Amino acid sequence: MINVLFVCLGNICRSPMAEAVFKHLVEQEGLVSHFNIDSVGTSSYHIGDLAHRGTRRVLSDHGIKCTSIARQINRRDLETTDYIVAMDQSNVSDLQYASRGVLADDRISLLLSYADGVTRLDVPDPYYSGNFEEVYQLVEAGCRGLLAHIREEQGI
Ligand code: 4NP
Repeated sequence: MINVLFVCLGNICRSPMAEAVFKHLVEQEGLVSHFNIDSVGTSSYHIGDLAHRGTRRVLSDHGIKCTSIARQINRRDLETTDYIVAMDQSNVSDLQYASRGVLADDRISLLLSYADGVTRLDVPDPYYSGNFEEVYQLVEAGCRGLLAHIREEQGI
């Protein structure tokens, strides 16, 4: 199994969106049996919460289901995840701090580094901007590129 974990700060806006979009793409490509896909936050702020209403609405507008319940990253995630995919550079810093001694650094990347034709590196936080559709477009481009990258790297 290939373990993919999407990471943001609160695990209610961006990473649950990426989790849902990536699962949807994996279903469309008939690859469900190859993957464990989850999302987490670096913070404890929203543990136990459903995804933000804006994330649930934009996903539903695009015909994608969202089942995420927020949780905080733990040591086991850092040890077992093959692809730790962060939404922004502050998430990467937090992950690098949390993973000292676990050698997860080479498994940490930024979602938008996989997005074709996108030059920005950070997925903006819709918790502050309210622009969930803009975030959806970026997350979708990132997830498409990530899946192509993993398929190539894993030969599936
Ligand atoms: P997320 O957005 O990291 O995309 O889930 C945020 C959610 C909550 C907070 C910040 C960002 N907060 O400060 O509570």
